[in-house]
Amino acid sequence: MDKFVIEGPTPLRGHIAVSGSKNAALPLMAAALLTEKPSVIRNVPRLNDIHTLNNVIRVTGTRVEFDAGAHELRIDASDLHTPEAPYEQVRKMRASFYMLGALLGRCGEAKVSLPGGCAWGPRPVNLHMEGLKALGADIHMENGYVIAKAPGGRLKGGTFRMDPSSVGATVNLVLGAVRASGTTVIENAAMEPDVVAFCDALTGMGAVISGHGTPVITIRGTDHLQGMDFRNAPDRIETGTFMIAAAMHPDSDLTITDTDPGDLGAFTELFRQTGVDMEIGTDTIRVKAPKHIRPVSVITEIYPGFPTDLQAQWATMMTQAYGASEVTDNIYIDRFSYVPELVRLGADVELRGNTAYIKGPNKLQAASVMSTDLRASVSLVMAGMVAEGATEALRVYHLDRGYETLEAKLNAVGARIRRVPQE
Ligand code: UD1
Repeated sequence: MDKFVIEGPTPLRGHIAVSGSKNAALPLMAAALLTEKPSVIRNVPRLNDIHTLNNVIRVTGTRVEFDAGAHELRIDASDLHTPEAPYEQVRKMRASFYMLGALLGRCGEAKVSLPGGCAWGPRPVNLHMEGLKALGADIHMENGYVIAKAPGGRLKGGTFRMDPSSVGATVNLVLGAVRASGTTVIENAAMEPDVVAFCDALTGMGAVISGHGTPVITIRGTDHLQGMDFRNAPDRIETGTFMIAAAMHPDSDLTITDTDPGDLGAFTELFRQTGVDMEIGTDTIRVKAPKHIRPVSVITEIYPGFPTDLQAQWATMMTQAYGASEVTDNIYIDRFSYVPELVRLGADVELRGNTAYIKGPNKLQAASVMSTDLRASVSLVMAGMVAEGATEALRVYHLDRGYETLEAKLNAVGARIRRVPQE
């Protein structure tokens, strides 16, 4: 288990490139299982979560080759013979549950481990299962596994309303629906750019999908799908993370490249309200930090609302704002494990219910802090970059799940971060 030693404070200046999106790549990988033809996915980030899903997919007999240097993933599911996803793999990453829709869609049957708990409380999968039942699947539980079968070997399709709107369940239902015998309508579907990219890729394979990017997605089942050759989207959460990191030091002037500024939803306008100077290009965003960050409160919502995956970073920035602000998470109400750690660094943050009440600005001082999940982890690194002294962020393996070569990227624009093996 490695730790980071972060010397601060350091401004961020220069150009920093965004990698391909983790959350968009995972459904694309599952989609490649729907066809007997080989697929290529480009701009895939070199991350532990990608390696984990590769290993889940290999259990089925599918060939997976990941050229991590070229960020190119080749998936050939022509010999898919075992429609199963075992606990040993699924427990490492919840998105492995995409195997349920993919295997049901491809084989008409699936045996997929139920994912376990999560660092920030319960994360149910009831909508995934109820939705696939509405498409015609028989589903029951056996020894921690979800056993699913499509009568006659093929799902029929059907109508299902999500409540709440779920990214994962939308993906699983689309995976089940594209090769069904009939038509599927998903109401209150997730509108995330990741879902849109996934539906675009499937459409390129020959799937008949309309309405993606709106709350109603319609899928007409089809018999045959081609392989895909698809370029994965840039990681919008990494983009937002770098934007916030730049805003936190008054001398920062950072240009984020290889991104899609259109993917950030409500985040961009709220970010502008903090007083940053932003120049938005076609695939770049230049952020010049304000002298004094203005306090701006946020509430997480489904896309295009403010993303839950950026709330910890936002709260961290608000510790440096001049005034009081509130960060409320309505999507995942327990996602605040970073709060006591920020307090250890000298921040004034109080957690009540699912809202963090922040008073700024507070000069942060180095301390040892521990991360408990991916976004909490990156927030502590960001706090360390403005704290006085050498902050130790322990257990950075969480970061390696979701940020490709984070310390190298940040060091190239002025940060001083060392990775140290931790006993
Ligand atoms: C995805 C992202 C994750 C992000 C989250 C919310 C991936 C791999 N992960 O997770 O980074 O934080 O979207 O934007 O893309 N819910 C139910 N029943 C279900 C499923 C979900 O009640 O069956 C609820 C959840 O508890 C939550 C809300 O729906 O309150 C949204 O969750 P969901 O969109 O499903 O999150 P994930 O797809 O797991």
